[in-house]
Amino acid sequence: MKFIVTAGPTREFLDPFRFISNPSSGKMGFALARAARERGGEVALISGPVVLDPPPGVELVPVTSARRMRDEVFRRLPGAGAVIMAAAVSDYRPARYSRKKLKKGPGRLSLDLVRTPDILGELGRKKGEVVLVGFSAETENIVDNAAEKLKSKNLDLIVGNDISAPGSGFAAETNRAVVIDRTGVVEEWPLLTKNELAERIIDRVLTIRAGRGRS
Ligand code: C5P
Repeated sequence: MKFIVTAGPTREFLDPFRFISNPSSGKMGFALARAARERGGEVALISGPVVLDPPPGVELVPVTSARRMRDEVFRRLPGAGAVIMAAAVSDYRPARYSRKKLKKGPGRLSLDLVRTPDILGELGRKKGEVVLVGFSAETENIVDNAAEKLKSKNLDLIVGNDISAPGSGFAAETNRAVVIDRTGVVEEWPLLTKNELAERIIDRVLTIRAGRGRS
């Protein structure tokens, strides 16, 4: 089965030297790519800038902006069995890009931001038989927010995590996740390493996919 996994942050440049981004390490997405490969999958790992080595046997597709990530995902969508969006995609980008370095002045500087493409939302509208998995990084109301995202983006599975909890979130080695599927079943998983969490998520994806094959 073909997997598309996204990882890491995106960078949205305002001039050649400055960008908007976030502290995503890419660890969760890389762990998912490894787990999918170990289950025999053919894996394209579309990643923003990170310092990790790609897992063996995985095709690494480096990207920078949300727009490029979107294009690389959709280019590979035909024939894919699952798309797992673990990337921390920037929701906004600067409205204008300056080819020259912006000069500082004496006063304030305002930045005008516009939305980046909602990759997961677009996938949800066009997904067909693909198993679609999203992540939901929250600081409050994890279950409600994740359930709402699952529904509004037409996902098969959502992995919610409390990025403010100890041992969870961006650069941590571990994650405590709440996993919700389309039938509304809510599972609170214990604190797991990102590798263990990735293996459990891939198992769930394969189960959903197998069920779809039978129906
Ligand atoms: O709505 P929120 O940004 O919290 O949703 C997070 C999920 O949506 C993640 O799976 C992330 O990869 C995905 N996402 C996306 N496109 C965006 C922003 C987030 O696909 N522009």
